[in-house]
Amino acid sequence: MALETMIEMLQIARAQGYAVGAFNIVDYTSMRAVVRAAEGLAAPVIVQTSVRTVVYWGQSTLVSWMREIAEESPVPVALHLDHCKDVAFAKQCIEAGWTSVMFDGSAEPFEKNLTHTREVAEAAEAAGVSLEAELGKIGGVEEEIAVADAQSQLADPEEAVAFCRELKLAAFAPAIGTAHGVYKGKPKIAFERIETIANQTGVPLALHGGTGLEDDVFRKCIALGCAKVNISTQIKHVFIDSFVEYHNTHQEYEPLKPLAAQFEQLRAGVAEKIQLFGGAGWGATG
Ligand code: 13P
Repeated sequence: MALETMIEMLQIARAQGYAVGAFNIVDYTSMRAVVRAAEGLAAPVIVQTSVRTVVYWGQSTLVSWMREIAEESPVPVALHLDHCKDVAFAKQCIEAGWTSVMFDGSAEPFEKNLTHTREVAEAAEAAGVSLEAELGKIGGVEEEIAVADAQSQLADPEEAVAFCRELKLAAFAPAIGTAHGVYKGKPKIAFERIETIANQTGVPLALHGGTGLEDDVFRKCIALGCAKVNISTQIKHVFIDSFVEYHNTHQEYEPLKPLAAQFEQLRAGVAEKIQLFGGAGWGATG
């Protein structure tokens, strides 16, 4: 059984200087592709679900087949809820069987963010589930959460230290200049701030907005303290494009064939990222 929380997974990654890839899946094929990619490289992996995906499938249905795939895998797999703004919903996912949740109170003032995150932290700790929380405002669009460029705001290092001191976080997501979705220009990453926050909080950092970042940016962020890297938009694009391309070139009405093409392209893209983040070999058993 390889179902894990993110706690030990990210502590080890941070200590060894690599990051665990966290990929937003949307269905059974994409989940299998992510886990298969990790297995091929003997790497730990985080499978994330957006709140919208959870609502689409229903909590118990989604978690039952996610757990089944994870439990059968020889590599460590964490099942993580991404960007949840609703305390009650996060608690339901903790009870339903996710091994990790992110509470996103970043739209709230500091004290309110802390209070709500603490409430989720208590439920998570009681259930042995790991927690990620956010500070500052990450730009771009992530499902229901949209932050205009002008509204995005880097996390303040002093606030970050105060926030992390109050909570037992497996991962901390400070806004450091990345954005969700497709980048319109070259992002301005606040590398110094990543280093300061990582060193002063001592918590493994989560790098959001992974789609479209250059390889060197990933390497630098990981070296400075990011132990979790989130990729969502890339998965969405490959998911749709691979299916459509297959159909456009083959014109057959045999659903299993485009599904197989979709699986393979998702697997290959995820494997490339896991390799780049340095996780290969760190999930080997025995
Ligand atoms: P992208 O959609 O830019 O890959 O960001 C993913 C993310 O950070 C999910 O929380």
